[in-house]
Amino acid sequence: MPVPDFRVDPRLIEQYVEELGTIGALPEGGLFRPVYSPAWLEARERLAAWMRAAGLHVRGDAVGNLFGRLEAEADGPVVLTGSHFDTVKQGGKFDGALGVLAGLVALRLLRERAGRPRRPLEVVALCEEEGSRFHATFWGSRAILGLIRPEEVHELRDADGLTIGAAMQSVGLDPGGIPTARRDDLAEFIELHVEQGRILYDEGVDVGVVETITGLRWYGVEVLGRVDHAGATPMDLRRDAMVGAAEMIAGITSVAEAMGRPAVATCGTLLVEPGAVNIVPGRVRFTVDARHPDPTGKTELVAQIEAVCREVAGRRGLEVRFETLQDVPPVRLDPGLVALLEDAARERGASWKRMVSGAGHDAQMLARQLRVAMLFVPSREGRSHSPAEYTAPAQAARGIEVLMAALYRLAYAQHG
Ligand code: HGY
Ligand code: MN
Ligand code: MN
Repeated sequence: MPVPDFRVDPRLIEQYVEELGTIGALPEGGLFRPVYSPAWLEARERLAAWMRAAGLHVRGDAVGNLFGRLEAEADGPVVLTGSHFDTVKQGGKFDGALGVLAGLVALRLLRERAGRPRRPLEVVALCEEEGSRFHATFWGSRAILGLIRPEEVHELRDADGLTIGAAMQSVGLDPGGIPTARRDDLAEFIELHVEQGRILYDEGVDVGVVETITGLRWYGVEVLGRVDHAGATPMDLRRDAMVGAAEMIAGITSVAEAMGRPAVATCGTLLVEPGAVNIVPGRVRFTVDARHPDPTGKTELVAQIEAVCREVAGRRGLEVRFETLQDVPPVRLDPGLVALLEDAARERGASWKRMVSGAGHDAQMLARQLRVAMLFVPSREGRSHSPAEYTAPAQAARGIEVLMAALYRLAYAQHG
């Protein structure tokens, strides 16, 4: 069978991205499509309509993942592509969404140009990856692997105190059905994603072939001191939770800076109580996002972070408590699929480079049970998790051509 035409019209992907990017648009710029929100539901319905129009068989699972399937000549282990369609707060149009739409375009064009595959091909729109509403990152991919613990349905709450189970019911999903989301018929997963860093952009390389995805740990840190009068309490008698938290945050930053690249640490949220001009704060909560692509480096980074916080607390008469919100090890992706992506890039005449991903991805979760690889396309100035997030249509189309060539090799070609 002659190899089909893998060319992708940049206008095709641009239309999908721009239209999906209107769903959940915020007046101040950017998007917010938290899982099980009205915007999330609208995006899911739009994706289902597009999958159907592309001739795919569409199915939703118990947690809201959406699958578009290209039936094969015979049943068998599925070649899966896709990404997540939820976003961070004030996020961009490309993080996650481009991977879903790339899979949609790839399967639509492969169906039109190459007909039925030898093996089933599916694109998945994963319901939740970001953890931007519930600290439940990888909810969609964990459901597919059967890794959601029953108690999470009641434990995970959003900022309004609503449980993830109640949020599921609010969009017509049954938390009791979560175990049915487990899939045991999936063999490979290839995720196209924007780089969210600036290496490809700076070096003018078409695609990144990801070898390793960084490991990450999220903490909720609680600092407890004593509320006091801001005027009548001498500085030497205070147990000021805000000052303690501030020293801890500065210390956490210094730890990551001292370790140097690729260690990173981010304190992205801060809550102060009681929160008044003239009261010494008694309780401060903040979060830490610590990452390192090497297991030993990650262990060292988190150990130093905890040590810094304990030292400040001891010196200032404070109590510090850590809650681990998530802990995901670094993952080396499948060498065979990495080589397959390189072959596909070479075949398409695309320049490529092997990379480490500093961002977390569903691929690192699915890699626990599937053969997994990732393909990056450039992010302008490396911007992401921001309304400034942008990938040119021609660059997105280039990445999709490489994805199509790789999926073709796996699902159509005899050697697989
Ligand atoms: O945080 C991350 O790396 C991903 O965007 N969820
Ligand atoms: Mn993200
Ligand atoms: Mn993402």
